[in-house]
Amino acid sequence: MSTAWTSRYAQRTKVLKSSAIRELLKMSQKPDMISFAGGLPAPDVFPAARFREACQRVLDDNAKHALQYGASEGYEPLREMVARHIQRYGIKAKTENVLITSGSQQALDLIGKLLINSGDRVLVEAPTYLGALQAFNVYGAEYVSVLSDDDGLRTDLLEKPLRSGPKFMYVLPNFQNPGGTTLSEERRHELVLLADRYGVPIVEDDPYGQLRYEGEHLTPLVVLDRENLRRDDGYSLGNVIYLSTFSKTLAPGLRLGWIVAPAEVISKLVQLKQGADLHTSTFAQFVAYEVAKDGFLDEHVKLIRKVYRERRDVMLAALKEFFPEDVKWTHPKGGLFLWVTLPQGMNCQKLFEDAVREKVAFVPGDCFYAGNGFTEEGFRHFRLNFSYGTPEQIREGVRRLAVAVRHQLHELSPVHA
Ligand SMILES: Cc1ncc(COP(=O)(O)O)c(C=O)c1O
Repeated sequence: MSTAWTSRYAQRTKVLKSSAIRELLKMSQKPDMISFAGGLPAPDVFPAARFREACQRVLDDNAKHALQYGASEGYEPLREMVARHIQRYGIKAKTENVLITSGSQQALDLIGKLLINSGDRVLVEAPTYLGALQAFNVYGAEYVSVLSDDDGLRTDLLEKPLRSGPKFMYVLPNFQNPGGTTLSEERRHELVLLADRYGVPIVEDDPYGQLRYEGEHLTPLVVLDRENLRRDDGYSLGNVIYLSTFSKTLAPGLRLGWIVAPAEVISKLVQLKQGADLHTSTFAQFVAYEVAKDGFLDEHVKLIRKVYRERRDVMLAALKEFFPEDVKWTHPKGGLFLWVTLPQGMNCQKLFEDAVREKVAFVPGDCFYAGNGFTEEGFRHFRLNFSYGTPEQIREGVRRLAVAVRHQLHELSPVHA
């Protein structure tokens, strides 16, 4: 029904759908439900005591600044801390290359605002992060999707899509959301070379890079781009914009992320950010700085890795124990998610209904595809989160899920299951 308001909604609202994940999260909050749906960090590892002390210190020593308006670029010591912190991964950014955002999600929105004209194509992985699609859709983005496999984006499939002239590529090289997969070293090199050859810039989204549970850290695209292709020893000529966040290492409720980009790009983003929220919460930035400083963040990340590694292992073991053989899943080396592939003919949406009856929830795979003929592919997958539940809940949840999977397999082919 059209009312005085609805008839006045702008054209861009036509593409908005209520997020499937939000709706699922509502359902998964029911009592007795074990939810593998959200991308939530474990609340039991939030460093609450350190936050309490940090808030007290900020208010005792610095209330007149921490409660005041601040610079749109972000709190200078926090920007410096980020610039120093990412040096260890080889990213040679100066403070002027860092913009503090209200979570990485705002970074994605600002990038959409900066780069996307209605009808522009964005090259994305299939599957990709749903929140990025939501951010870019509002600006009228269209998509070129390129399949990924266990080694990340299929660079062997990239040339043709790159030739079609996308505005930029959006890539998640580490422990991808939703796939849990990591872009291999070889493909990273290929990707930056191809991006350079076809003049297509890259947005590298890396919220999970620090949460590695096995193997060696792989070089970020932003570093390969600079080292392989530019003579510059700083960040002025980069073809890659790099994003990360404190959401998965400190607390998502802080709403603190950052963008690393060439200084002139940061200046433009600052203008866009002013129109959005003037600046990210000053108080949150002061507190995050106090919490993270003196090596605390590094120590805390070690604890998170230990807890999440154990949970991942419990989930992998339970999948092996309870799931039928013809269901496959990824083996993530870090991050928060793994990705399940169902046998041909099975449909994750139907499975979801059964799973909810068994009191377990996940996110159906079709949410993570940008369309372009991948809908059928999407129905064969679903995403499981392993950071939020306790080991006991994870094992029990996978057991319940296996009941639903066997039921669906039986529906499909009664002799099969
Ligand atoms: C790939 C990816 N990018 C960005 C975000 C947004 O994170 P933030 O909490 O920093 O807004 C998420 C959150 O789950 C994510 O998985």
